[in-house]
Parts: sequence; C-alpha cells; structure tokens
Amino acid sequence: MGMKSNNMTIIGLQWGDEGKGKIVDALTGSFNYVVRYCGGANAGHTVTVGDEKYSMHLVPSGILRKGVHNVIGNGVVVDPGTLLEEIDLLRQRGVVVTGDNLHLSNRAHLVMAYHKAADRLGEVKLSPGRRIGTTARGIGPCYSDKANRFTAIRVCDLYNPGWEEKLLAVIAEKNAVFAAIYGAEPIDFDGVRAELKAQVPQLAPYVCDTRVMLAEAMAGGKRILFEGAQGSLLDVDHGTYPFVTSSAVTACGVPAGAGVPPSAVGYVLGVLKAYCTRVGAGPLPTELDNDLGQRIRDRGREYGTTTGRPRRCGWFDAVAARYAVDLSGVDELAVVLLDVLGTMGELKICTSYKCDGKDLAAFDPDAARLQRVQCVYESLPGWDEDISTCTGYDQLPSAARAYVERLEVLLDRPVGLVSVGPGRAQTIIRKTSLKGLLQN
Ligand code: IMP
Repeated sequence: MGMKSNNMTIIGLQWGDEGKGKIVDALTGSFNYVVRYCGGANAGHTVTVGDEKYSMHLVPSGILRKGVHNVIGNGVVVDPGTLLEEIDLLRQRGVVVTGDNLHLSNRAHLVMAYHKAADRLGEVKLSPGRRIGTTARGIGPCYSDKANRFTAIRVCDLYNPGWEEKLLAVIAEKNAVFAAIYGAEPIDFDGVRAELKAQVPQLAPYVCDTRVMLAEAMAGGKRILFEGAQGSLLDVDHGTYPFVTSSAVTACGVPAGAGVPPSAVGYVLGVLKAYCTRVGAGPLPTELDNDLGQRIRDRGREYGTTTGRPRRCGWFDAVAARYAVDLSGVDELAVVLLDVLGTMGELKICTSYKCDGKDLAAFDPDAARLQRVQCVYESLPGWDEDISTCTGYDQLPSAARAYVERLEVLLDRPVGLVSVGPGRAQTIIRKTSLKGLLQN
C-alpha cells in the first residue's frame, strides 16, 4: 500500500469514541498541521499527558504539541461560546493557544442558542422509539440551516456588516416555530446579539481562509493530519441512518470539510476499539445488555466525554468494521483499548449476520434491518495478564496477539498500532508502513 501524499487521515471505524484523540496525539509529532473537518462540539477527544487529562470538543488534538498548527475547517459547525471556553480552559492549564497555532475557517457555520434549543425540543417531541439520543449540542439543526442557506450564519458573516439584521430575522423565524410547534419560550435576540458581539473580537485572531492556509502548507511540503470526529457508522450518508450525526465523518468527508483536493487525504488510518460501543439510540448488533457488557463498561470507563452518558457495549463486530474499512479505503488499522478485554474469559468476534434465516453477504446500514440481525460469532481465548505496561508487541501475551492478528485477517488490513492504555507511552507502534510514514 503506497503513500498517496505526505498527509494522513485518522478516522473512527465504529460508532465514535474509538480513542482517535489519543492516536492523533501520539502521531502529531510527525505532522505540522492537525485539521478537524466534520462535526462540532458533539465530539469529545480525550488526550492524557502524564497525569493530566484533556477533553477537547472543538480544538484539534494537536494543540498539546508545540509548533503544531491546529485548524478548524469549514466543514465543522462551531459554537463560539464553547470554543472560547475551551481555549480558556486550555490556557488556564498552561497550554499556549494563540492565532499562531489555532486557526478557524471563515466559512465554518456557527452553532447558535436556537440550534441547541431546537435539538432538545425536537428530540423530546419524538416518540421514545424514534429519538436519536443526540448530544444536544445543536449539531443537526445547524447543519440543517447550512443546507437551507437562508437561515445560516457563518464565521465570515460576523466580520461583514449586516449580521445583526440577519440574526434578528432568523431568530424571529425560529421563535415563531418554537412557539407554534413546541409551545417553547422565545430566544432573546438582544441576549444572543450581545453575547456574539463580545465574541467577535475574541474569535478574530483565529479566523482566516483555512483552505488557502492548507494549500500553501502543502505547496511548502508541510504535512497535514486530518482528525476525524465521531465514527464511520454515524456518517450522515453511510451510517445507520437516521441514527447518525449530520456530517460526512469518513475519509470521504475530508476534501469537502477541509477544502483540500481528494489527493490530499493521504494515508488513511482507521481506529477501532477492540470491542464495540455506541452512545445514543440505533442498532448495535453485538450489544451485550448484561453483566459482561457492564464489565466492559467498567473496565473501559465507557461513559461519554461530552454528555457523561453510559455507553452501550458489545463484542467486536467484524462485519460492520469491514464495511467502514471499505468506505474510507483504510490503509492501516489502530486497535485501541485492547487492555480492557483482559480477564474477560473467552472472547467473541462477530464474523457474519443472519437475517430472517438467511446469511447476509454484506453489511447493510439500513437501521430497521440491522435491528433484526442475529450475529454469528467465533470464539477466541482470552488472557488474564495486565497488558497496560507492555511497550512492545512481542511483550503481549500470545492470546492478545492472536486476537489482533485475527482482526487483521478479518479486515484484510495490517494493524500498525495497538493501544493498551490512555497514556502516551501506552502505544505500541508495530508495522513498518506506519513507522516509515512517521519517520519521514
Ligand atoms: P448529534 O451528533 O449530537 O446530532 O448526535 C447524533 C448521534 O451521534 C447520537 O447517537 C450521538 O450519541 C452520536 N454522537 C455524536 N457525536 C458523537 C461522538 O463524538 N462520539 C460518539 N457518539 C457521537
């Protein structure tokens, strides 16, 4: 598998929370730019440095490395209050954040108070069976406005005259809908305007045309790492619709969401948990709604970074993962949280589905169908050793290595990186292609 450019794209191959933040942090040393291209503050990227744990929602995970440029691309929906708070929190902890290392696309869309209100109100109005279980960060309503055009406000609008009039008109329209459909309190225009007015100069140092910035960087031979958010099975087009997020989260979303040509996507590293989790509603074929699932949740500390919700847990699903690998043309895999599977006894991997008595040849993301599939499992021996201190692949117990190598066969891709704990040192880089890429 050859390299297509100097760049790399890191994406999640499941339902989000695969530990992408940690992997991005482990690899940023070899890159000049880290770029977010999809999603918004629904993401929660956790990076642990020493005893310090950082949770980033909008700021790219490269912010913790000196000299790395961090870009929030045009495809991201940005809640200005959340972004400024996040910057403040990082600064309070001694992280340097300035217009020199953080850049915000002037074409990114703004998440406003009425988007968050619409997200909450819309979910509550649905019957429980139809609820998506969103993060309530206003993501869906903001992307809806982006597609709708008339009701959208972009970062660049704030630096041109006329945004206050537009905001007034948009809020009037939203309030009419809130009152008529939800009987909800109106959004206060004066309050929203005052807050935004105060935020405009605070955001200004970061705002630029990030497309031009990235084009110049690539022309100058700089290396870019595109940081995916959410997971492939939450993709608005290819995920388990309607139980998905509202943006293109696979590697296919990079060109549009960052404003780079498709050839810039580069080497695609797909991140997988050694098991499956999902937060919110929607099908999870391998779900363990029992003590075993609870053990995975406890051992993996599987509670949401953004919402604190307990995550649903289940065995590794090779059918779904293979689909995600194909969607993004994944070159190599990172297997994360392998340590969590220790002391669990016999391990299972789902290798095919049955539906209505028939074998399903391929993964079909249709949610209604997926709700009805039965998983066919194969069993692998577990291990009882604590692997969280292993620093080389050869130090892993043979059962753990056999598990990793079985994933390689099932997904037909090499596993170049194995993570055995949250710390920077708990990262085993294994295969030559990834290693070679990093030494460049
Ligand atoms: P939304 O993106 O807030 O609209 O939520 C839509 C669905 O995606 C819900 O099931 C969320 O739980 C899920 N989701 C959104 N962002 C993430 C994430 O970063 N990790 C895991 N799940 C997410």
